[in-house]
Amino acid sequence: ESYDMGGHDTYMHKEIHEQVDAVDRVLRGRIDDRFSTVRLGGLNLDAREARGVRRVKILGCGSAYHTGLIGAQLIEELARIPADAEPASEFRYRNPVVDPDTLYIAVSQSGETYDTLAAVQELKRKGARVLGVVNVVGSAIARETDGGVYVHAGPEVCVVSTKCFTNTAVAFALLALHLGRIRDLSVADGKRIIAGLRKLPEQIAEVLRGEEEIKKLAAEYANAKSMMFVGRVRGYPVAREASLKLKEVSYVHAEAYPASELKHGPLALIEPEVPTVAVLPDDDLLEKNRATLEEIKARSGRILAVAHREQEKADHTIVVPRNEVELDPILMGIPLQLLAYHTALALGRDIDKPRNLAKSVTVE
Ligand code: AGP
Repeated sequence: ESYDMGGHDTYMHKEIHEQVDAVDRVLRGRIDDRFSTVRLGGLNLDAREARGVRRVKILGCGSAYHTGLIGAQLIEELARIPADAEPASEFRYRNPVVDPDTLYIAVSQSGETYDTLAAVQELKRKGARVLGVVNVVGSAIARETDGGVYVHAGPEVCVVSTKCFTNTAVAFALLALHLGRIRDLSVADGKRIIAGLRKLPEQIAEVLRGEEEIKKLAAEYANAKSMMFVGRVRGYPVAREASLKLKEVSYVHAEAYPASELKHGPLALIEPEVPTVAVLPDDDLLEKNRATLEEIKARSGRILAVAHREQEKADHTIVVPRNEVELDPILMGIPLQLLAYHTALALGRDIDKPRNLAKSVTVE
C-alpha cells in the first residue's frame, strides 16, 4: 500500500477499500492452527504473567477508544478477564488508582496522540505494565510501552480513521484469543474464532460490493436534521464509531446511545427528521433490539438497520454476512463507514481534511 490514490477520488474511499488486504495482513503469520491460538511475537507477556492478570484497562482517544470498547468486550468474552475501556484523556486527569494486577493497553493509530502517550507515561511512572496496540511502527507509544501488537493497517492518510479502526478491532480479537487460550478458552472455541477471522477478508469484500446500495441510502438520509445511532452490547461500540464517523466527515449532527438507554431520555428527540441507525447483530439480544425498533416506529422515526437479515420494522436494512457473534462488531462497522463517506460526498464536504480536525492530536 502506498500514498498513491490508486484511482480513488479520496484517501477515505481508498482506505475503506483497502480493508480486505489490510485485515489479511494483520492476520498473516499469526495463526497457530496446531494449538488453535495465535502467536503475537511482540507481546512480552509469558503464559504465567498472562494468567496473573486480574483486570484489563484499555486507553485511547476517539476512534481508538471505540476500538478499545470492542477490545474490552472481546477480552471479557474470550479470556474471561474483567476488562473496560476509557478515554485516555479522562484517565490521565482523574488521578486513577494504578493496580499492579491490571494489564493496561494503550491503543493508537499514530502512536503519537498526546493524551494517550501522557497516560502511558503516568502508568509507567507508577510501575504498571502497559502494552500498545498501535499502527505506526516505532512511534512514541510503541516505544514507551512494554510490548504489544502492531495493527499493520498500512499508512492511513485520511483524517477519518477507517481501515485502522477495523484492523485494530481484529488485533484485539487476536489478543483476546491469545489470552483466552492461555486461560480457559477451549480448543473448539479457539478453532471457531480462527475460522471466523479467516472469513473476514472475503466478507469485507462482500460488504464493499454493496456500496451502490449504501450510496443511495446516504442520498436519502443526507438531509437529516440529526441522526441517532443505537446498539446493544456488541452493537454499541459500532454505533458510537459510526456516529463519530458521520459527524467528522459530513458535519451532520449525530448521537450514539446504548439501545436500552433510549427510553431514559433520547427518545424525546425521535421524529421523522431524526432517523435512527440501529446495529442489530443476530445474537441473543435481537428480540430486545426489535422492541427498540418498535419504540422508534411508534414515534414516527425512520430506521436504517444494519443486520444479518432484513428487519421488518426498519425502513431499510443493510444486510451483512454472518460470522461468529464475538466478531460481529468488526464487519458491522464497515457499511457505516461507507454511509458516512457517501453522506459527506452528497453534501460536498472536504472528505480527507474535515474542518477543525488534525490526523494526529499531538498537543494537550
Ligand atoms: C478518527 O476518525 C479520528 N480522526 C480520531 O478520533 C482519532 O481516532 C483520535 O484522534 C486518536 O488518534 P490515534 O489513533 O492516532 O491515537
